[in-house]
Amino acid sequence: DKAQQDAMKKEAGIAAAQLVKDGMVAGLGTGSTVKFLVDELGRRVKEEGLEFTGVTTSRRTQEQAEGYGIKIVDIDDVDRIDLTIDGADEVDANFNGIKGGGAALLWEKIVAVNSDKIVWIVDSSKVVDVIGKFPLPVEVIPFGWSHVFKRFEERGYKPVLRLEADGEPVRTDERNYVIDLHLERIDNPQELAEDLINTVGVVEHGLFLNMVNEVIVGDPEGPRVLVN
Ligand code: A5P
Repeated sequence: DKAQQDAMKKEAGIAAAQLVKDGMVAGLGTGSTVKFLVDELGRRVKEEGLEFTGVTTSRRTQEQAEGYGIKIVDIDDVDRIDLTIDGADEVDANFNGIKGGGAALLWEKIVAVNSDKIVWIVDSSKVVDVIGKFPLPVEVIPFGWSHVFKRFEERGYKPVLRLEADGEPVRTDERNYVIDLHLERIDNPQELAEDLINTVGVVEHGLFLNMVNEVIVGDPEGPRVLVN
């Protein structure tokens, strides 16, 4: 149930917070699991005097972190990110994952590729045999989006434009739209990733293929670490 899932997310977030050391530049992801991570980092800053610099993957995370007095800088003001801790929507045994359920995939991927080490924090329900049950988010430019959408339909990708409660399209931090692909299973993620990124109008997609170094899985028996 939801309470137990939250407990597993929290456990993974608290475990990952221990990886942040004094003097580090740390990438902070987005989502409900990362929220627990940032809570714990805020506690460590206040109670243990931890000193680190954060780069965030969304405005939401930036606001939460700054609320704790965590120093947040622009990604273009650092040379390199030592470690990034982020959530994920699904991950398989080959460390291929889906991200972007929270619409932050573009900044998340930019932070990820500029990080020396990437750690994901998930509850055990997100570790799957085949990715794709979770709809794959694709960030697209608003101009001409309906044509990209039609192209996805023709390819059998089952696209759905992500909407707010008021019926307006969701906008990312870069003011783009998100189209979710209801594929059910993705048997060849590499091929799909290439097809998506080569589609004009697509900015980025939520396939993060073999990028993560470690996955911390919250579990009722205590956190498990999967090492890539
Ligand atoms: C944000 O765009 C996503 O990539 C999140 O990291 C992902 O959706 C995980 O979110 P939760 O921790 O809320 O499940």
